[in-house]
Amino acid sequence: MRKKIVAGNWKMNMTYDEGQKLTSEIVNMYKDEAIQDVAVVLNPPFPHIHPVKKLVGDTAGIYVGAQNCSDKEAGAFTGEVSAKILASFGVNYVILGHSERREYFKESNELLAAKVKQAIANGLTPIFCCGESLEIRTAGTHESNVKFQLTASLFDLSPEDFSKVVIAYEPIWAIGTGKTATADQAQEMHAALRRHIASKYGKEIANETSILYGGSANPGNAKELFSKPDVDGGLIGGASLKSRDFIDIVKSF
Ligand code: PGA
Repeated sequence: MRKKIVAGNWKMNMTYDEGQKLTSEIVNMYKDEAIQDVAVVLNPPFPHIHPVKKLVGDTAGIYVGAQNCSDKEAGAFTGEVSAKILASFGVNYVILGHSERREYFKESNELLAAKVKQAIANGLTPIFCCGESLEIRTAGTHESNVKFQLTASLFDLSPEDFSKVVIAYEPIWAIGTGKTATADQAQEMHAALRRHIASKYGKEIANETSILYGGSANPGNAKELFSKPDVDGGLIGGASLKSRDFIDIVKSF
């Protein structure tokens, strides 16, 4: 059975105190409201990882992720953080290929392929982001564009390693804009990606792959998005910074 996952991407937000408060609230609500069968992944900035992990403790169903990792194993790369270091702090997931990293930090498909390999080699689950710009959507080439992102960064993986990857479809025009893709637009792309995965790795692996939607998801639209057969959860930015909103999204299946 493929996993339902709601991941919060804090981006470059939250001071230490704010992060601690947000995490405690989320952990308490998750427990008090007896949430089951949905994995929650908190992806704070690097310095929060250890204290957030401590607060989460052994709460079943809540995991800690990073927003990036290096493509290198170790060594003289000032300012970088390796997958191995993250794993040693008990991190389980890592977001890779977010459109902000692709755009502002010029991360290429090839670099992302190397990061994905590092993550998997160190036991982290990559949340691999893909998605098209408004220009590409308007031109009507969005499906082939997003499929190519998967082919270029993931399709060198063995079937066993590919099975460890989570996909997040995030149309760039919907990120932080308040303009969500409709549930039908999300379903259409998720189904296309699943077919694409099946063409390379077979139906069984494709059916087991969790494909999350991201881009202005909120408590008001999550139910409809998550009701679609190929939408297995969400990667949440803005709404993950408010505990009530985030937990309401988690409860939207
Ligand atoms: P948003 O961000 O929910 O604020 O649109 C999503 C993301 O960038 O992961």
